[in-house]
Order: sequence, then C-alpha cells, then structure tokens
Amino acid sequence: MSYKTQEKEPIESDISGYLKRHETKDLLRFLTCGSVDDGKSTLIGRLLYDSHMIYEDQLEKVMKDSKVYGTTDEQFDPALLTDGLKAEREQGITIDVAYRYFSTDRRKFIIADCPGHEQYTRNMATGASNCNLAVILIDARYGVIKQTKRHSFICSLLGIKHVIVAVNKMDLVDWNEDKYEEIKNQYNSFVSRLNFSDIHFIPMSALKGDNVVEKSKNLDWYDGPTFLHHLESVNISTDRNLIDMRLPIQYVLRPNLDFRGFSGTMASGVLRVGDNVASLPSRKETKIKAIYGPDGELQEAFAPQAITVTLEDEIDVSRGNMLVPVKNIPHIGNEFEAMVVWMYEEGATTGRSYLIKHSTSIVPGVLSDIRYKVDVNTMRRAEDAAGAESDEVSLQLNEIGRCHITLHRPIAFDPYEKNRATGAFIIVDRLTNVTVAAGMIVDRIVAKQKTEAPVSKNIVKSDSLVSVEDRQKLMNQKGATLWLTGLSGSGKSTVARQLERELIDMGHACMILDGDNIRHGLNRDLGFSAEDRTENIRRVSEVANLFNEAGLIVITAFISPYRADRQQAREIIEDTSRFIEIHVDTPLDVCEARDPKGLYKKARAGDIPQFTGITAPYEAPEKPELTLKTADLPSETSVDLIVAKLRESGVIG
Ligand code: ADX
Repeated sequence: MSYKTQEKEPIESDISGYLKRHETKDLLRFLTCGSVDDGKSTLIGRLLYDSHMIYEDQLEKVMKDSKVYGTTDEQFDPALLTDGLKAEREQGITIDVAYRYFSTDRRKFIIADCPGHEQYTRNMATGASNCNLAVILIDARYGVIKQTKRHSFICSLLGIKHVIVAVNKMDLVDWNEDKYEEIKNQYNSFVSRLNFSDIHFIPMSALKGDNVVEKSKNLDWYDGPTFLHHLESVNISTDRNLIDMRLPIQYVLRPNLDFRGFSGTMASGVLRVGDNVASLPSRKETKIKAIYGPDGELQEAFAPQAITVTLEDEIDVSRGNMLVPVKNIPHIGNEFEAMVVWMYEEGATTGRSYLIKHSTSIVPGVLSDIRYKVDVNTMRRAEDAAGAESDEVSLQLNEIGRCHITLHRPIAFDPYEKNRATGAFIIVDRLTNVTVAAGMIVDRIVAKQKTEAPVSKNIVKSDSLVSVEDRQKLMNQKGATLWLTGLSGSGKSTVARQLERELIDMGHACMILDGDNIRHGLNRDLGFSAEDRTENIRRVSEVANLFNEAGLIVITAFISPYRADRQQAREIIEDTSRFIEIHVDTPLDVCEARDPKGLYKKARAGDIPQFTGITAPYEAPEKPELTLKTADLPSETSVDLIVAKLRESGVIG
C-alpha cells in the first residue's frame, strides 16, 4: 500500500499497538447531499487530501490534471480527485451511488456519494439507508434552497440521526459571519419538524481548505470543530439498538445429524447463551444453547455480528424466520403502513402483485392502497392528494408516498423508527426482478389480541335494575345470536336478510350484523390478516352480546373462518344456549361459480391476498347447531329450518 500516511504515525515502533487501535476503531458511514455545484466533490477531495488519505500515484495525476483542466489556476483542484467517478458514469456504467473508504487515527469512514440531481431520490434512498450521518452542503451565496429541504427530509425519513450542515464557499461571501448566521436560522426554522437528534453547522471553504481538516484563520469567529474533527468525534454509539434482539435466519446449517445451527446477521440487540427466544412467525419457544462467531464459541453476540446459534429444543426454524426474545416480540402480521420511495420508471399500481423482500424473507404482496403522496419540497402531504380518496393517487419515479401493504403471508416486523433492519423492505417486480421501490414501515393497522387486555381495577361493572326476565316478557322472546359462518358467496347474507324479514313479520325484534356492512363502520380499520379477522369477530361478538342483553335476536353473517374465533364468540355471548352456530355449508366451487362480487376472480388473479378458500384457510365447524347446504336448499327452506331451531331452543314461542 502506498498511502501517504499521516506524519508521526508510529507504525514501525509499535506495530501491534497500531494494529490493535485500527482493529477497534469504530466505523462512521456518512453521505453527502448537495446540488451539482455546491462543492461536494471538492469537499471530499479536500478531506482526503488534507488528511493525507490519498494514494500517491493518484495525487501525481491530479496535480498534472489540475494544470490542464483545473479551475484553480494551476493550483491543486480537489474536485478532480473525486470526479473520476463521474467519468465512469459518463461511460455508461451505472453507478447510482459510489462508496469511498478512508480512515484516520480515530475512526474508519465510508462515504456514500449520491449524484445530486433533483429527481434522484432513489440514489439518496440507496446511499442513505445505512448511514449514520448526513452532510448537507449549502452554498453560502444562495442559502437554504428547495433541494436542501428535500435532502434533509429524505435523510430524516431514512432514519439518519446526525447532520452536519456544511455552509460552503464562505470565501465567496467574504467570510461573513452574519451571512452564516442567517443560513443557520433559515435551516433551523424548517428542520424542527424533522427527526434529527443533532445538527451541527460548520462554515467552510472546501476549495481553500478552510475548516475542512485545518482550522480556518479567515473564519476565526467560529469556535467549533473542523469538519474532520466533528466526523471523528460525533457520538454514534447510542444510535445502536441494543434492546430489541432480532436475529433473522439466513440459512440452516446441517453438516451432520447431530448439529443443527441457524445462521444470520444480528439486526439489533444482544443475544446471550441461555436466553429464552421465540421463532417467528410460529412463536415456538426455546433457549439458546450455543452461539458461534467466526472465531469460535461466544457467550454473547450483538448487532451486526454474523453468528450461528444452536437451540435447546428441536423446533422448526427455517430461512426467513426470525429469532426474538420471548418477552419482546415484534409485530407479526401481513398488513402494515409504510413510506415508500418509488424508484422505477413505470409507476406504482395498487392491487398488482409484487415481491416484498423484508429482512431474509421474500413474500408476494400488493400495495393495497396508496394513501397519499408526500411533497418532498414542503415535507407535507402533496396538495393534489389531500382530500382525494386514495384510488386516484399513484406513485411515479422518485416520488414518496404513504402506502398500505398487504402480504400473502405474515412476517415479523418493527417500525423503521425502532429498527432499521426489521423495519425496511424493498419491492421487486415479479416479472423483471427489478427493484422498484424501497419502503420504511411506519405503523401497522391495529389488531393486537385484545381479548386478553387487562381491565383496570378501577372499572367496576354495575348491575341493572331490569332483569333478563323483565326484558323477555316485554319482548316476548329471548335474546339470542344466530351465528352464520361460511365462505364468501355461500349465501350467509341472503339467508340472514330473508330470516330477518320473516322474524320481523312474525313480530320478533331482530338485527343483522353483516361482515361487509360492519367493515364500513365499526370495523373499517380492519383488514383480512388472521389477527384482524380475530379482532373483527371479537368486536362483533361484544356487540351481539349487548344486543342479546337488550333482548334482541341477532343474526350475524361473517365468514369467521377460524374455529378459535367462533369459540371465543360463543364464550363472549356467555349463556351458551343463546349462541347458535349455523354452518352455511356451500362447497368452494359453488361459491366460486356464483362469485357475486367478482372477488374470487380477483383472488385467483392474485389481486386480493389472503382470500378465504383461495389463499387463506376456512376451518369448518365441527359441531354446529345447524348446517345449511345452500347449494341444494332453497333459501326459504333454510329460513324455515332456522325458525324451527329458534323454537326448539326456546328463543321464540
Ligand atoms: S371475516 O373473515 O373477518 O369474518 P368478513 O365476513 O368480515 O370476514 O368479511 C368478508 C367479506 O369481505 C367477503 O364477503 C368479501 O366481500 C370481502 N373480502 C374482501 N377481501 C377479502 C378476503 N381477503 N377474504 C375474504 N373476504 C374478503
């Protein structure tokens, strides 16, 4: 290596000390954002030159080139050091982001250099995704411009916590302190809405070398650190997430029958031998038996180490699964909301099937909804989409939108804010295999198991002065729930409607709760993941129970595909004799042939994920109170059978 090493580097005298220091140095990844003429290349060139981090042969060439092409009157032009990359770009090699490496006594650095054209949101998204710090360059003559805001917004969106605002070209404003203060105020006034933990302003002239590596005499009114000094000392150790252990499994090692190891790169947190872990999405629990690193067994491991673990129990873990602490489980679901940066010429289409690559798993899924676009220049919801219903919103190249994503099967994820590794994903076109977007999970649709939520001791149930019998006498009937379950298109709603008509005509107070209707109101926030369906049924059961207490007969028409959910409904509706489960038992092929809403067709085309009977399960009741084979029964007969059942159960006389 022909580094022109820094003077006084005591390599010869203490080789092992030198190596040790370098081994334990931490790594800072940063990216530089600025428009074409803000001086990005000059700044990086100056940084490398002044900190003696340049290959000597490279330097010689630059000195020669400066005389020929330089803009600096035969003096050294630092931009030529970095502009080699541009030449490569012009030759048609697509380098969206170029990475450069250098190291000083205190730290190692990786610089992601993203071309600064306004439309290249995607380059920034690629370059910034694992950076610790962003350098936002501002030309002191022009101050904060649209692009400054745009870049800052994207950096904040991508989870960068530290910012250096390099107020460059101070030489061109006569090293004027007021000018610098004005820019500082401008920047501070808009940045407060963004999520940075520290912002540091440095006045400089990258071209002349002022405040890049050496302190500037021209800027003696500034008493902060130089650019390099700040890069070397900014504290990034607290950025790491050491709390939420996440180990996505990349592959299963099975060299012989006695060893079954699970390998992956720790995404966050700390893992120790003996820790209780769960494998997701199965939630099977076990303990960590041993941890192996590249140099042998370890007692503990942390992000971003690549490790292999063995487990105490033979539980089923495979590629794409994730090991997490039993007591700190991420969300598991197939629906979430995300900020999506669209990076492809062909715009985003809702309902179209893509591949979603998240951590180590690849799952088919759809953008079920583009809720709104973000205007990157104002950092607000784009005007044209405000108020407009999502159907009309589309995402084009370099645009950012808030989207609802639905996957064909559940994954384990965290919000990006909490965990960049388990909160980020990319979207891949299924036909061309091209990466079309990058996304950051911001939230997820509600749907935790709510039945087990503890009720505060301060909430005490009170008894009514009206008894159940009082109401029965008044209504001339007992409250009861007729729980119709079956596939979509089986005829639940049809039977329910005719039954309701019949009961009212007979003088009985009743009410239908129907899936499609309730999902327009009470349950409009729920989708079709297993969790959401459970919550759907739970809420409906609570409502049915209240109506029953009021003395009403309730007819529900929900697919309610899970046995456990229907059992829970039975329990919520308490008095067993008032829960009557009716299986509207129509074979899938008949439902599909009927296809009253055209949904089976869409589901077969892959446009509706998790569709019951096609890509999601239906668990038929084992012992329903009544079964209606609607394929062979006229609906009037079904109604008669139910009325007979109501009489038999003493609900009506
Ligand atoms: S449940 O599974 O949670 O009980 P629910 O009965 O409320 O479902 O809603 C089912 C209705 O929603 C169907 O009749 C159909 O019109 C519509 N629907 C939309 N997407 C799906 C889907 N993925 N699976 C089943 N039904 C769906």
